[in-house]
Amino acid sequence: MREDGLLATHPTDADHASEVLLRPKALGEFVGQRMIKQRLAISMEASTKLGRPLDHLLLSGPPGLGKTTLARIIAAEMGAQLRSTSGPAVERPGDLAAILSGLEYGDVLFIDEIHRLARVIEEVLYSAMEDFALDIVVGKGPTAQSLRLTLPRFTLVGATTRIGTVTAPLRDRFGMVDRLDYYEADDLKRIVMRSATIIGVPITDGAAAYVAVRSRGTPRIANRLLTRMSEYAVARADGRITEATAEAGMELWEVDDLGLDKVDRLILDAIVSKFGGGPVGLTTLAIAVGEEPETVESAYEPFLVQRGLVARTPRGRMATALTYQHLGQQPPPGSAQFSLLGTEAHP
Ligand SMILES: Nc1ncnc2c1ncn2[C@@H]1O[C@H](COP(=O)(O)OP(=O)(O)O)[C@@H](O)[C@H]1O
Ligand SMILES: [Mg+2]
Repeated sequence: MREDGLLATHPTDADHASEVLLRPKALGEFVGQRMIKQRLAISMEASTKLGRPLDHLLLSGPPGLGKTTLARIIAAEMGAQLRSTSGPAVERPGDLAAILSGLEYGDVLFIDEIHRLARVIEEVLYSAMEDFALDIVVGKGPTAQSLRLTLPRFTLVGATTRIGTVTAPLRDRFGMVDRLDYYEADDLKRIVMRSATIIGVPITDGAAAYVAVRSRGTPRIANRLLTRMSEYAVARADGRITEATAEAGMELWEVDDLGLDKVDRLILDAIVSKFGGGPVGLTTLAIAVGEEPETVESAYEPFLVQRGLVARTPRGRMATALTYQHLGQQPPPGSAQFSLLGTEAHP
């Protein structure tokens, strides 16, 4: 639980002990994302046959969809060592140079939140990715010399929740760029069933489906909700998760029928009640709900936009007809979204 008492269904990208247990370890255990899995399987098989490391791969998508999991699976399936770091953790170009020069042939280097690498640091990556070389400057002033170190061939796996902020020169140096999409309810149900087996909690088919549709398309949330529901079942029922227990559990955790939690609803409510339906800027909105703009933008907003509950416009975030509907309110007559709907209905 978070300090403010809310259920952390919008986690940041941190690794948690329970996630390690539930994380698929082989591609065959990774549920859904069929096309990505097929492409990866082929590239990995070919690389293995040709006896060379896999090409660099950039994975994008909202938090909790399996980017870190895939990076680990790739290393495992390629029989490679995994080295992990993240954009904000690399503070100086020298830090990255140290990581790169410590790599061994075939290693998988995972850089999470790669869009947050500083530009000067990112530039160190260019020759490393392209030529497997590291250019370092020794000394200062007129006697300074540039040295080129050869690096062993390695595979860079980058992950980002904000593909739009990855610079073109960096993106272009990845041989494969893939985007993870929100999961269908069927796949999430499969994930819930799999996780229930691992943690050893009995769950009915109906209850698994009930949890799945409230997981906002996100495996991490599915696992979190399952864990909370299993606790509820142990404390308040006979230990099995039935539809009735899941329903009562969701009510306790204030997760609604679309899987929105308190903060999601605060965001919708703020746009409607405080800002007259918008448009409202990201920073203003984030302050109104007491979250960081980056958190609102990368963790909350994508799902709300995908479900048509928030519209992103050049002037800011706006409510839609669905926003009012979800909050059980009437859209104001003559509002932009109302007349927009009117136009669509009578072209
Ligand atoms: N395709 C999947 N099948 C089963 N479980 C998954 C899948 N993708 C993610 N998970 C679960 O969700 C959790 C979060 O995934 P993770 O890879 O950490 O997401 P990301 O790095 O994209 O934020 C993992 O610990 C894993 O248990
Ligand atoms: Mg991750």
